[in-house]
Amino acid sequence: MIHDTALQQLLAVGTGDEPLLLVLDEQAGALPLPRQPSSRVLTNRCDVATMAGRAGWTAVFNDFAFGAALGPPCADVRYRISKEKRVVEQVLQAAWQWLPVGGVLWVAGYKEEGIKTFVARLAAAWQVVPELQRGERHLHLYRVQKSQSPPQSLQAADYHRLQVIADWHGEPLYSKPGVFGWDRLDEGSTLLLQSLEGWLAERPATGLRGVDLGCGFGLLALALCQAGCAEVVATDNNAAAMSASLATLQRRVAAGQARVVADDCGGSLGGDFDLLLCNPPFHQGFAVEHELTERFLQAARRLLRPGGRALFVANRFVPLERKATALFREVRRLDGNDRFQVLALA
Ligand SMILES: C[S@@+](CC[C@H](N)C(=O)[O-])C[C@H]1O[C@@H](n2cnc3c(N)ncnc32)[C@H](O)[C@@H]1O
Repeated sequence: MIHDTALQQLLAVGTGDEPLLLVLDEQAGALPLPRQPSSRVLTNRCDVATMAGRAGWTAVFNDFAFGAALGPPCADVRYRISKEKRVVEQVLQAAWQWLPVGGVLWVAGYKEEGIKTFVARLAAAWQVVPELQRGERHLHLYRVQKSQSPPQSLQAADYHRLQVIADWHGEPLYSKPGVFGWDRLDEGSTLLLQSLEGWLAERPATGLRGVDLGCGFGLLALALCQAGCAEVVATDNNAAAMSASLATLQRRVAAGQARVVADDCGGSLGGDFDLLLCNPPFHQGFAVEHELTERFLQAARRLLRPGGRALFVANRFVPLERKATALFREVRRLDGNDRFQVLALA
């Protein structure tokens, strides 16, 4: 877990007498015990929910839906802003609606993350005057008190609506804001799928067990289904990715060919897969995280049966080949260009 000073400062303000709702995306560092036992965490990441639960918080994992699952409203909501604009707008707007009049919303983030722009927009839309406390390294921490004034919405469109963004060999790909690169096909993943086509010409996947590690909206998992795998698991830690990949794979799920599992690096899955596809993340929130590449490679090694193969794609600046060589018997370069490389690992 990364250390996030913004989150630590966000937790340090106030008296600690009242329960609070802490809203967290993937950049959450380790949490201290809640100062008030009925405090809660809402997060879109299943690993963050597990970490919060272990630290003594009641954790709710969903795609930032401020519904009944959160329990009774509390008058103190705290949010360390996310990386994606549409996610930030969703959390701010939904938190504001959920907060009782007189309650306080605390928002923290760094200047270079755009915090000043978000707060200027909410001040105009909700007719409020946020109070600013500055911290180290351009940290901005705002206190915003909810008044009676009827708010305008910060959101241009429905955050939760699934949309068809493209198709893959005649089957629609559903996606939504909050999913990695939600409205386009990733160049790295497309290169991986090109390599897969050549690979399958020599080794058909019919009847095999396949897994898509970090599935996003389910593109690689769908390709495994189309290749004839008998069983495909699509897994990601992000609640938005869960709903998008479930929609993309709906026909395959209904036919018993695919499953979608919320998980931290496939940790709850048993091994014995024949073919694993992965375009691993190299960011955690705003930070570049090469440790994630290593965790995904280790997961691949654990999930493959002896003789099974993994195809990985990564940006050239990610030390994928060096890290893979330490873990796999065979590391072969299948394809590449000036931005990405595709490796086959055995
Ligand atoms: C580069 S994206 C690839 C998405 C998708 N496979 C595609 O090709 O479009 C990496 C994915 O890994 C997911 N991810 C990040 N951390 C994770 C973790 N600890 N466990 C599982 N998935 C994770 C992200 O949510 C994201 O969907």
